[in-house]
Amino acid sequence: MIIIKTEAEINRMHEAGKILAEIHRQIAKLIAPGITTHEIDQFAEKLMKQYGATPEQKGYKGYQYATCASINDVICHGFPKKEKLKDGDIVTIDMVVNLNGWLADSAWSYAVGSVSEEADRLLRVTKESLYKGIEQAVAGNRIGDVSHAVQAYAEAEGFSVVRDFIGHGIGQEMHEDPQVPHYGPPNKGPRIKEGMVFTIEPMLNVGTYQMKIDQDGWTARTRDGKLSAQYEHTIAITANGPIILTEQ
Ligand code: MF3
Ligand code: CO
Repeated sequence: MIIIKTEAEINRMHEAGKILAEIHRQIAKLIAPGITTHEIDQFAEKLMKQYGATPEQKGYKGYQYATCASINDVICHGFPKKEKLKDGDIVTIDMVVNLNGWLADSAWSYAVGSVSEEADRLLRVTKESLYKGIEQAVAGNRIGDVSHAVQAYAEAEGFSVVRDFIGHGIGQEMHEDPQVPHYGPPNKGPRIKEGMVFTIEPMLNVGTYQMKIDQDGWTARTRDGKLSAQYEHTIAITANGPIILTEQ
């Protein structure tokens, strides 16, 4: 069941999203060779608390950190670690902010120092694929139109789209309906309506879209060990089109 949000509820989620966006902008300034994802995690959690918010991921299904930190071939759900980031790495930081019971979810991938041309292109195309999806997130379209737009763009650029993790409705729960795959045919799936709030969060890979999970039960990696990147926004559907709640 898709829970439709009122304008007031969307505003509350937007407040959570503004905090999240500000934390990403602060993290962006810190990312450099030598910093650890543990330090980034502590920093993000400290900022959330300063803003009167809480890290929704911490304690979620036993997950122990405020952020997910997914380096290079890790697709998503990597644990923050005390190992230093290296020049040429790419890292995705994903988090869910809870402000007074209302949530926002956003992930950005970052380049550490100077990265390969391929990594740079992967980051750019992944971000662009998210915005191709957002363009289709208008009342009257279907979820499949979003899915298809992301996949068509990503694959035309020579990258593959992860199948095992998808976008989702969000509100007072992290994961609500609808499910939002980043692949599939257009003109299928639930009709998009005013008041829906969901994430679009494509993960693009340089090689195969297939993944494997580490022994820790969380860390998802590409099967072939090649790079993966992700960008995620939480968006609200209004009569005037989608509003990105996690941008500003
Ligand atoms: N932010 C992630 C999402 O897009 C969820 C991370 S899983 C968690 O749904 F358990 F770490 F929270
Ligand atoms: Co999400």
